[in-house]
Parts: sequence; structure tokens; C-alpha cells
Amino acid sequence: MYYQALIYIPYAILVNIFASYMLTEYWLNVILDKYVGDEHIITRYFDHIVVGGGTAGIAVASRLAENEAHTVLLIEAGPKVSLLHDIPLATPMFQKSPIDWKHQTESQLDACLAMKNNSSQWPAGKVLGGSSRINFNIHVRGHISTDYLSWQSEQDWTKEDVLYYFNKYEKADTYNRSPNIKQFFSHQPTHVTPIATAILKAANDLDFNTSFDMNNDGFHISRRDGGSFSLTPVSIRTGARLSAEHLYLKSRKKKNLTVLTNALVTKVLFKHNFEANGVMYNRFDQVYKVHALKSVVMSAGTLNTAKILLLSGIGPANQLKPLKIPVIADLSVGENLQDHIITGLDMITLEKSLDLTFKDFISPINIFKYFFKGTGTWTHPGCEAVGLLQLPSDKKNYSVSSPDLQFMLLPYGVSSDAGAAYFNHLNFKNESA
Ligand SMILES: Cc1cc2nc3c(=O)[nH]c(=O)nc-3n(C[C@H](O)[C@H](O)[C@H](O)COP(=O)(O)OP(=O)(O)OC[C@H]3O[C@@H](n4cnc5c(N)ncnc54)[C@H](O)[C@@H]3O)c2cc1C
Ligand SMILES: *[C@@H]1O[C@H](CO)[C@@H](O)[C@H](O)[C@H]1NC(C)=O
Ligand SMILES: *[C@@H]1O[C@H](CO)[C@@H](O)[C@H](O)[C@H]1NC(C)=O
Ligand SMILES: *[C@@H]1O[C@H](CO)[C@@H](O)[C@H](O)[C@H]1NC(C)=O
Ligand SMILES: *[C@@H]1O[C@H](CO)[C@@H](O)[C@H](O)[C@H]1NC(C)=O
Ligand SMILES: *[C@@H]1O[C@H](CO)[C@@H](O)[C@H](O)[C@H]1NC(C)=O
Repeated sequence: MYYQALIYIPYAILVNIFASYMLTEYWLNVILDKYVGDEHIITRYFDHIVVGGGTAGIAVASRLAENEAHTVLLIEAGPKVSLLHDIPLATPMFQKSPIDWKHQTESQLDACLAMKNNSSQWPAGKVLGGSSRINFNIHVRGHISTDYLSWQSEQDWTKEDVLYYFNKYEKADTYNRSPNIKQFFSHQPTHVTPIATAILKAANDLDFNTSFDMNNDGFHISRRDGGSFSLTPVSIRTGARLSAEHLYLKSRKKKNLTVLTNALVTKVLFKHNFEANGVMYNRFDQVYKVHALKSVVMSAGTLNTAKILLLSGIGPANQLKPLKIPVIADLSVGENLQDHIITGLDMITLEKSLDLTFKDFISPINIFKYFFKGTGTWTHPGCEAVGLLQLPSDKKNYSVSSPDLQFMLLPYGVSSDAGAAYFNHLNFKNESA
């Protein structure tokens, strides 16, 4: 017990050093961007303006800029961050940090009852790379029939079209060089604890398929199988995070793509109150306008895209009028929000400790392994194994193939870090412990 407490001291020191480093780097970046950077744009006209330099925005802006006849501006509210942010084990530290929007829900009456003020945290990346720079690197493709084919009103696209784009983005950073290089995604974690192997064996014993690659074009689950388990496919390369920024912005400079960071878009501008032709943004307390000749793409994330549209007068008139925002289009912006609900089950206590402890976090061997070999505990993605399951149903319709449940195996609990981060991130009430 005392030994455990002693181990905690160097761990707490390391966590604090990293947190201070993140904060220092953040402010250094802001100061450099403000006083030294020549990044600030002189051009006031671009062909395309992409709002939000996150997962989707970076991909769209990069693709648009492949056409050298067009100029593209990507505007991001957050800063650019350094290599140390690529350490997978550091991921939990990004929540509630300066690169998190730190969204929070309203107090609920029948949900979030274990959380302070009945309110749930809603993290989202405020950084170049967006949430792909703070997420847990799990790369499981969406389900084609329910997540993609059902979105269309006509037969606009087929399963093959969706597969084409899955494959294209999975090798995004090799795309311009050699399309034959094997995709970087679908990698297994380089480091897992023995629990992962045990869970996969148990799944196998229960007759679930454990040999499918979940990102293979032929992957399917059916009522007959009940589901599928595997080690987590991760977007990690040589042990380090592979975000949208890594995939699209670092590999090949695009001459006609201008990336502006630390710039908060506040409004979309319209020509004749009808056609979007620019945006207004705030950068270091100055307001700027920039114009688009061809298009304005909104990719500021689930919450902020809706927020910017509402501020611009696109949204339900009955909500905009009381706020004195002139209505440009009366549309149901902000409705039909969907998210995946997650719940944790702390099920297992072992007599024996696994090799995912404070001792391993701070071990110089693991630090060496991360920086020189891309292996070891520091590459741990958080989630070691995933399962996609169909729940038993009376209907036994064998042609339905979409999963009902996703299992994630996390070999730690909210108290594993002795309260350093997880417990606080989840906004738990103290009595919930
Ligand atoms: C903690 C966490 C863990 C996750 N884990 C996984 C996982 O393991 N696997 C997985 O597949 N998915 C995961 N997700 C979900 C996934 O990361 C997101 O669904 C995805 O990144 C969303 O992409 P996006 O482009 O819509 O938004 P984002 O990537 O969030 O990009 C939006 C961008 O717009 C910028 N922006 C917002 N407002 C403005 C403004 N006013 N002006 C300028 N810029 C603005 C933001 O700063 C951000 O960079 C996770 C998400 C979180 C938060
Ligand atoms: C885009 O970049 C190319 C190569 O530098 C240049 O020739 C072209 O003029 C640029 N296009 C625009 C619209 O500026
Ligand atoms: C609790 O939530 C309400 C909104 O639901 C908010 O106005 C209030 O500031 C919150 N209180 C605390 C202590 O966070
Ligand atoms: C939280 O929910 C409970 C149960 O509905 C309710 O009694 C309580 O007032 C709520 N607290 C807040 C701060 O909204
Ligand atoms: C799992 O699926 C793969 C791919 O279809 C198949 O080759 C394998 O036989 C299946 N394994 C089991 C145990 O069903
Ligand atoms: C089974 O599901 C498929 C796909 O949703 C549907 O097209 C079909 O009509 C269903 N069959 C039955 C018998 O319900």
C-alpha cells in the first residue's frame, strides 16, 4: 500500500510536468502567432473557404487544394501543436486542457445523475486537427447500409462508392505518392495487456468471430454470428497518433492551401442575403472579413457548425427572433442531434497487477521505447479490444447486419490514475466514487 503511494509521487510529477508543458507551448504558440508569424493572410479573396481545421475540414480543404487552379483558405480556432501531443498515452490529458472546447450539457433531470450539476462533459478538439488530435485513435469504419446508404433520398451512391472513399482516405498521405503502399489504418495496437488476449479467447469460446479485420471491405456481422471481436484497429503509426493533420497536412505541402490558426469564425457572410460569399472571424481581438468566390464549407464540428449557422441567421426563426438575429433562412439547424451513449462497467478486480501501472508509465525503458522504437506502454491507445454485437432478437431477420452495441475494453477504471484525470473529466460527483 505504501509502496503504491510512493510510486504515485513520480507519476504525479510527470503528469504535472506534461500539463505545464502543454500550457507553456499553448501560450508560446499564441504569442508567436500574434507577434512573429507571417501566417496572417493578406489576400482577402479565396476560391474556397473551409471553416474549422478538424477531421473533416482538413480532408476537404486538402482535396480542394489538389486543383492548383483554386486557392483555398482553412480557418481554425485553435493552435497548431507539437510532436509531444502525439503520444497516445497522453490522450486523457487533453480533456479540459487549452485545446479542448470544454463543452458541457445543461443540467438534466433524468440523465447524468452521477455527474456534478447533472451535467455531462462534452470534449472536442480546439486545435489544428480538431477532435482527431484528442480522440482515442480507434479506427472502425462506419456501417455502410445504416450509416451511409440510408442518408440518401435517391440512389445517389452505392456500397462500392462508399468503399472507394474508405480506401482513399485510409491511405490519404500516400495517395499522392504511391497508391500501392499498404494502408496505414487498421493497425493493431503495439501494446496491450494480457486482458485483451483473455477477452478475445473468451469471445472465441462464446462463438463470436475473432478473426475478421473490421476495416476489410468484406467485413459484416449478421444475426447468425451475433457479432465480432478484435484487437482495436487504431490510427497510430510507429507508435504515435495519426490525426487528420498528420494524414493530410504534414505529408505534402499544397501550394494553394493557406492554413490560418488561432482564428475564430463568428459569422458567415451573404451576398443578397442568399448566397454565402465569405466569413467574419476574430483573431487576437481584431475582426476580419474574408471572401469566397466559389464556396464556404462549414466543418466546425457537431456543435460549433450549428452555432455559427445560428449566429449567421440560419436556423429556426422562433429561436433567432428573440435573440434579434436577422433570419436569412428558417431551417431546423441544431435539431436531430445524435451521439453514441457510452456507459462504463468496472467489472474486474485482479489480485495481480497488469503491466499498465504508474510504474510503467514513468519507466525510463518505456520512454526510451516510445521515442526510439515506437513501442511500449506510451503507445497504449486506451482501448485494447472492440466488439460489435447484435442483440438477440425474436425477429431473426438474417439480412439485417448493423451492430446494436459496441464493446470497448479499457484495462483501467476511473480511479486507476488515483484521481489525476479520468474522474474529473467525467465530471463525477464525489459520492459517485
Ligand atoms: C475524447 C474523444 C474521443 C474520441 N474517440 C474516438 C475514437 O477513438 N475513434 C473515433 O472514430 N472517433 C472518436 N471520437 C470522435 C471523433 O474524433 C469525431 O467524431 C471527429 O473527429 C469529428 O470530426 P469533425 O471534423 O466533425 O469535427 P472536429 O474534428 O472536432 O473539427 C472541428 C474543428 O473546427 C474548429 N472550430 C470550431 N468552431 C470554430 C470556429 N468558430 N472558428 C474556427 N474553427 C472552429 C475546431 O477547433 C476543430 O478543429 C472521439 C471524440 C472525442 C471528443
Ligand atoms: C496555385 O499554385 C500554382 C503553383 O504554385 C500556381 O501556378 C497557381 O497560380 C496557383 N493558383 C492560384 C489560383 O493562385
Ligand atoms: C449548473 O448548470 C446550469 C445550467 O444547466 C448553469 O447555469 C450553472 O452555472 C451550473 N452550475 C455549476 C456550479 O456549474
Ligand atoms: C438533478 O436531478 C435530480 C433528479 O431528477 C433533481 O432532483 C435535481 O434537482 C437535479 N439537479 C440539478 C442541479 O439540476
Ligand atoms: C470469421 O470470419 C472469417 C472471414 O469470413 C472466416 O474466414 C472465419 O472462418 C470466421 N471464423 C469463425 C470462427 O467463424
Ligand atoms: C429484413 O431487413 C431488411 C433490411 O432492413 C428488410 O429489407 C427486409 O424487409 C426485412 N425482412 C423481414 C422479413 O422483416
